[in-house]
Amino acid sequence: MGKIAILTSGGDAPGMNAAIRAVVRQGLYLGLEVYGIERGFAGLVRGSAFRRMEMGSVAGIIHRGGTILHTARAPEFLDEAVQRQAALRLKKEGITGLVVIGGDGSFRGAMALEKFGIKTACIPGTIDNDIAGTDSTIGFDTAVNTVLDAMNRLRDTATSHERFFVVEVMGRNNGLLALTAGLAGGAEAILVPEIPYDLESICRRLRQGIERNKTHSLILVAEGAASAFTIGREIEEKMGLETRVTVLGHIQRGGSPTAVDRILASRMGAAAARLLWEGRGGLMVGFKGGEIYPVPLMEAFIEKKSFPSELYELALTLSR
Ligand code: F6P
Repeated sequence: MGKIAILTSGGDAPGMNAAIRAVVRQGLYLGLEVYGIERGFAGLVRGSAFRRMEMGSVAGIIHRGGTILHTARAPEFLDEAVQRQAALRLKKEGITGLVVIGGDGSFRGAMALEKFGIKTACIPGTIDNDIAGTDSTIGFDTAVNTVLDAMNRLRDTATSHERFFVVEVMGRNNGLLALTAGLAGGAEAILVPEIPYDLESICRRLRQGIERNKTHSLILVAEGAASAFTIGREIEEKMGLETRVTVLGHIQRGGSPTAVDRILASRMGAAAARLLWEGRGGLMVGFKGGEIYPVPLMEAFIEKKSFPSELYELALTLSR
């Protein structure tokens, strides 16, 4: 394979730039021509120019959040005629391999292009860490640390004022971000979409804390489990306590990637370029037990990541 392209798609995640850098530089090292496509599948369909990437095109980006290639969600890419058109556009330029960095929606786009003869190597990049076949996705570690930093700050003021804080964390269908940050930050309660919550038992836990002279608490809520405002109001009503609500929102998607994410992105990016160079496609680069290895895209897409219930139990046991 001589020419490959790369795009970032869906919600951005810290470390995507480090992955772009690795794909470009490893690709050039292997003798490939590498092209950047701006605005993901939307750009591919709507005619974004293919930008020839050289060593210098990815200089000074390893530490930057976001994606220099920009990203977008592209609902029109569900249409088969649009997918065929996109594959044709790539082929016309002599590009037969594509690296896709994104989440499961982006992988669906990649699988569609496979049907039309484009070889794809996908890199899981999302703060949600909701992709099966990989222990971690690019951006997850940074987002966990961002939430943790916010929790530390909120705990300072919660302690001073002896208040209860409800903090809403991203994660539409998945509570791994809330769970991981909650375990690391000692959240007194963690609400995740995977486990139905029971407000009575949450209040019971909070009351037990108060009986032990605990004067503040942090309750983490994944956005897919409930609205933090609703939970805050219900706790106030049930317990007669003053609560404050903080919605962290898109702050969690930005920021300089941690060393863990930069290294993961560098390894995954290099592996993706190598897969295409070997003429392989229909694969996602996964990370398991410290090793990088290819996973059939279908598997990564269809399988559901299991929720670590033992970590959830541990978080609750330790934060009583
Ligand atoms: O998938 C990543 C994610 O950050 C989710 O956690 C969140 O629900 C969603 O994207 C927000 O998407 P948007 O940026 O389109 O509002």
